[in-house]
Amino acid sequence: MNENGMLYEGKAKKVYRTEDPDVLRIAYKDDATAFDGKKKGSIANKGIVNNRMSNHIFRLLEARGIPTHYIKEISDRETLVKRVEIVPVEVIVRNIAAGSFSRRYGVEEGRELPVTVLEYSYKSDELGDPLINDCHIQALELATAEEMDTIAKLALRINEELLKIFSDAGLILVDFKLEFGRYKGSIILADEISPDTCRLWDSQTRKKLDKDRFRRDLGDVEEAYQEVYRRLGI
Ligand code: TMP
Ligand code: ASP
Repeated sequence: MNENGMLYEGKAKKVYRTEDPDVLRIAYKDDATAFDGKKKGSIANKGIVNNRMSNHIFRLLEARGIPTHYIKEISDRETLVKRVEIVPVEVIVRNIAAGSFSRRYGVEEGRELPVTVLEYSYKSDELGDPLINDCHIQALELATAEEMDTIAKLALRINEELLKIFSDAGLILVDFKLEFGRYKGSIILADEISPDTCRLWDSQTRKKLDKDRFRRDLGDVEEAYQEVYRRLGI
């Protein structure tokens, strides 16, 4: 830990300790990366959009019975959260084929999937976040079978809630990534839900309004983040 209490600097957020050992302060940055940090850039005011949007969604999820790390928004870019031990598994939920699913399986982007797809990847930039399954997770001792059962059920419930929230905002939720943490013996939702971690398309035009605009150099990146924020009525 350094002198100002910073515990960790991630690609999009800084994490600070607080006087309470069970509480952390996270500060969202405008830095943007893609492809395991190989592409670097910045998106003006992304930190504000992601902080406020993620908090808004976490509050809605809490109200619908989903446990999250959210405690309190303390500024445009900063939030107090419960200090969890992150499960090093990225949980991806897909409603429509896109991104690595389309590439890996040769399916055109935009094809409606007949079932919701749950995918896991090992959270490791050095290894390129490799795709893993339940057996790999047990073999690598990343989480127990019981924890993964809870995580899978929560991820599917979160999908149902997010589909409604975004559809009411005129947005199609194509896919998204979640991270979970251990807190006082239970599994709770951690990290963030934002245009960095979701694919969101305009319901009418199917225009991409998420980080794919940065990943694929599509332009209007800041505008897309602002548009999602505005439509959610935060
Ligand atoms: P993918 O199609 O590239 O695997 O991405 C699936 C979803 O996960 C998409 O909504 C973007 C999100 N995602 C992250 O949040 N972090 C990542 O590092 C990656 C690769 C994807
Ligand atoms: N944020 C991720 C990274 O830099 C990738 C992504 O979201 O595409 O690895």
